Amino acid sequence: MEARLNLFVFLSLVAAAALLQGSSAQTTHIVGDEMGWLVPPGGEVAYRTWAAAQTFTVGDVLVFNFGASAHNVAEVSKDAFDSCNTTNPISISTTSPTNITLASAGEHHFLCTFPQHCGFGQKLAINVTAAPGPQPATPPPAPGAEVYTVGDGLGWLVPPGGAIAYETWARNKTFVVGDILVFNFTNAVHNVLQVTKAEFDACNASTTTTQPITASPARIALASPGEHYYMCTFPQHCSFGQKLAINVTGGDATAPAPAPSSPAPMPSSPATPSPTSAAPPPSAGGPSTPSPLTPPPQSSAGGPSTPGTPGPLTPPPPPSSGSAASAAAAALPFSFLAVALAFFV
Ligand SMILES: *[C@@H]1O[C@H](CO)[C@@H](O)[C@H](O)[C@H]1NC(C)=O
Ligand SMILES: *[C@@H]1O[C@H](CO)[C@@H](O)[C@H](O)[C@H]1NC(C)=O
Ligand SMILES: *[C@@H]1O[C@H](CO)[C@@H](O)[C@H](O)[C@H]1NC(C)=O
Ligand SMILES: *[C@@H]1O[C@H](CO)[C@@H](O)[C@H](O)[C@H]1NC(C)=O
Ligand SMILES: *[C@@H]1O[C@H](CO)[C@@H](O)[C@H](O)[C@H]1NC(C)=O
Ligand SMILES: *[C@@H]1O[C@H](CO)[C@@H](O)[C@H](O)[C@H]1NC(C)=O
Ligand SMILES: *[C@@H]1O[C@H](CO)[C@@H](O)[C@H](O)[C@H]1NC(C)=O
Repeated sequence: MEARLNLFVFLSLVAAAALLQGSSAQTTHIVGDEMGWLVPPGGEVAYRTWAAAQTFTVGDVLVFNFGASAHNVAEVSKDAFDSCNTTNPISISTTSPTNITLASAGEHHFLCTFPQHCGFGQKLAINVTAAPGPQPATPPPAPGAEVYTVGDGLGWLVPPGGAIAYETWARNKTFVVGDILVFNFTNAVHNVLQVTKAEFDACNASTTTTQPITASPARIALASPGEHYYMCTFPQHCSFGQKLAINVTGGDATAPAPAPSSPAPMPSSPATPSPTSAAPPPSAGGPSTPSPLTPPPQSSAGGPSTPGTPGPLTPPPPPSSGSAASAAAAALPFSFLAVALAFFV
């Protein structure tokens, strides 16, 4: 009897182990192994050789070990990788180790933004394959991590009121490294892709080689501090407002929190839209100091925003409706859901 019981327990354990192995075996890759993340003595062939010996799957984790304040880790577009252009990274992390969960299939590119480091070979390009099985591997939330469903009940779609829907959603939230975004959407109708600020502003992801996540719900762990940008790559969806920009603060308590007030100028009250409330922001505060992540302020002479230089969070209004109409619609987000779906499904 006891022997039978032991056999049963043993077989159960074997089955459970096989199941774990098959479904979401998450591999941790120590970038460069013992060498770590530095300017490699032999040039960029070092990380190319390292990557060639690995198989990267969605859900795997890259661990970058480096001397703090001597290096950093930035994910960049393919163009930026090829030319070692460090001005506009997708994300950047300055703390070691930096653990990055590979959230999407396709090519991912990393480099160090310190002067000359990329040029001397501190750069890594990898190919990530989709996880086997129906569900992409989902990173488990770290203890204390928040899980945010983007748009809450609205989910991830072309919002009835335009981009203001996700601006409003993100506005009073504090995102910390390790938190998880859940994008809940209709498969084959929408997807989600992390992009650079330039791609976000232009609603043009054609320069990126990373594949969007196509299976809902998409769980994305916020792996690094700084600004993060997401969009749907279906035609027109981003320009009609299916885009999300957030600020992520470092996991440690010493990191400065983002200013909770006025992340972006918004109409004062969605319930009482006036024709002027949705117009481009007046230059009341004067031009702010430009930073690598901030586009130059718009010229005030041009009147309505020029299509070529959209503000960070104010895309050009859809051709079918004016800005005031968008603001009005934002006041009634859920009742227009059916209308929006009818247009975009
Ligand atoms: C680097 O990329 C930015 C946009 O991402 C671009 O404006 C700039 O001209 C590029 N710099 C070089 C030297 O190519
Ligand atoms: C990063 O990954 C390494 C190796 O798995 C682990 O030891 C370390 O605790 C992780 N750090 C964080 C901040 O998750
Ligand atoms: C990724 O795979 C594609 C197709 O096999 C190949 O063209 C590309 O060079 C690979 N990229 C990297 C960074 O290995
Ligand atoms: C954040 O916004 C939500 C929805 O607009 C609101 O219910 C909540 O009270 C706000 N929280 C804070 C701290 O302002
Ligand atoms: C995603 O949305 C569907 C329908 O809109 C809903 O039934 C489901 O509960 C949502 N899932 C999550 C994780 O929010
Ligand atoms: C998107 O960007 C690519 C490369 O910068 C450009 O060739 C293409 O015309 C752009 N597409 C649109 C719709 O602007
Ligand atoms: C992030 O925070 C910075 C500084 O507070 C701010 O200038 C920027 O607009 C914010 N970006 C987003 C996407 O909220």
